[in-house]
Amino acid sequence: MSPSPLRIVAREEAREEAPAVRSRLIEIRGLTKTYRTRDGDVPSLRPIDLDIHDGEFVAVVGPSGCGKSTLLKLVAGLIPPSQGEIVIDGKKVVEPPDDVGIVFQSPVLLAWRSVLRNIMLPVEVRRLDRASHLERAKKLIATAGLTGFENKYPWQLSGGMQQRASICRALVHDPKIVLMDEPFGALDAMTRERMNLELQRIHFETGKTILLITHSIPEAVFLADRVVVMSERPGSVAAIYDVDLPRPRRLEMMGDTAFAALARQVRSHFYAQGQLD
Ligand SMILES: Nc1ncnc2c1ncn2[C@@H]1O[C@H](COP(=O)(O)OP(=O)(O)OP(=O)(O)O)[C@@H](O)[C@H]1O
Ligand SMILES: [Mg+2]
Repeated sequence: MSPSPLRIVAREEAREEAPAVRSRLIEIRGLTKTYRTRDGDVPSLRPIDLDIHDGEFVAVVGPSGCGKSTLLKLVAGLIPPSQGEIVIDGKKVVEPPDDVGIVFQSPVLLAWRSVLRNIMLPVEVRRLDRASHLERAKKLIATAGLTGFENKYPWQLSGGMQQRASICRALVHDPKIVLMDEPFGALDAMTRERMNLELQRIHFETGKTILLITHSIPEAVFLADRVVVMSERPGSVAAIYDVDLPRPRRLEMMGDTAFAALARQVRSHFYAQGQLD
């Protein structure tokens, strides 16, 4: 089947706009992780090699417990690798880099701080200009549909609202890299779609480099430039798929043949591994 005219146009535009050489922003080399516990060792990652380019959107899918969150925490400099290394912007990661924002699998907001003060936390920790970031925080709050809740405490919010607040917190200091661990898992389907579109807009307008972990194969295909499929624990990279669909993507595209074919291909790995989320 020949590609539709729309796809050809989109590809040509992409070629014209793309820089001659895309620079590698995140380099993951021979990365492994084994957790040492009282009950023995838990090997969680087999050697992983992966390059993520500046401005790229990479989604990671894989069975539960395969080491996705572990991979994210390693890239975020929150835990040390057992072997191998991660290099961000030419610098080896040995502590949490400044230019990274993180959305954890659960919102982890501080119970004694209001929504606004939780969102402003990275600004305080990094001692950035308060006034300009306060403006930014308020815009993010409006985008996330949290206006009116700035002075509430996390326990006064629903789970989905807490997670939206934690997404604002990851973006408030305008980091170059955003790491997201299942950020939309707790949201209802409609809000999740709205947040998907919003994340696509942020990526398009700001050129941020995004590493997103998700259990949703359609979400991965919808948002990403590349989808990384991980194998069961100890996880490694089972396959990488380029998502060659034109941008901006519309939710209706999920019904298109090319979209469905790619989603099916990604899903086939899960059946092959005898496990589906
Ligand atoms: N702090 C820890 N100490 C010991 N073992 C751990 C620790 N954190 C994770 N593990 C183990 O490492 C493996 C990978 O965990 P991880 O949280 O990275 O998986 P995941 O792919 O994110 O799973 P899920 O999709 O359910 O979130 C699991 O077997 C888990 O039990
Ligand atoms: Mg996880």
